[in-house]
Amino acid sequence: MEIIIENDASKRASLAADIVVRELLSKENPVLGLATGSSPLPVYDELVRRYENKEISFANVTAFTLDEYVGIDPEHPESYRNVIHNAFTGRVDFKPENVNCPDGNAKDLLAACARYDQAIAALGGTDVQIIGIGSDGHIAFNEPGGSIISRTHPEALTLETRQDNARFFDNKLELVPTHCVTQGIGTIMTSAHPVLVSSTKHKAKAIRDMCEGPVSATCPASILQMHPNVTIIIDEDAASLLERKDYYIHRYATKIW
Ligand code: F6R
Repeated sequence: MEIIIENDASKRASLAADIVVRELLSKENPVLGLATGSSPLPVYDELVRRYENKEISFANVTAFTLDEYVGIDPEHPESYRNVIHNAFTGRVDFKPENVNCPDGNAKDLLAACARYDQAIAALGGTDVQIIGIGSDGHIAFNEPGGSIISRTHPEALTLETRQDNARFFDNKLELVPTHCVTQGIGTIMTSAHPVLVSSTKHKAKAIRDMCEGPVSATCPASILQMHPNVTIIIDEDAASLLERKDYYIHRYATKIW
């Protein structure tokens, strides 16, 4: 795992955007994986800025989002299809038909999830995948205690995740959907380059478990230790419980490749 600890939020966004742009420019028809939630928003703003500066176009990029709530009204502003459109894809030149989201309103959720997974696999997986992490260690909506080789599937959200996300639903827990459809850990692991961005003390335990804990379904993000090309970009607060923090700082500062 490459772990980058950077306290300046705009520098973190820039570092993540550098990776996205580099990976996208290296392919003719690249595939970009997108996360919703708060953590990637500065990265999307930075990518929009670079698009406006004509440094990057998304016209030839296919996007796949990580997850969606089950049963959410497609018009709801917190439907992840709408969130990603408003935060990013609708602000740049993506072709709308190239932006894919799992269908949380499908009659047959299992069949819809299988189709979504096959669509990602048919393109060889994402070239770069933006990821956030939940305070309970989830990535996408793979909650603790699931399968660490799962493919896209329906999932029940934990109470902790629903409490964390209540801020998007007028702080009313009862309005937060109880279930989701999510790319599986196995699906995410097919990405050529996962880039996880996170900050704040609220995520410190999850970050420690992800980077230094055992690889276990108890912290789904810990499976990223098994990926040979993952980048973790976090602030000092999120890094505060890391035992080998000084080494990670040294390793990145003296990177020679
Ligand atoms: C959202 C997603 C989730 C979030 C995670 C962190 O598509 O996949 O795993 O990344 O819940 O959310 P924030 O960034 O809002 O703290």
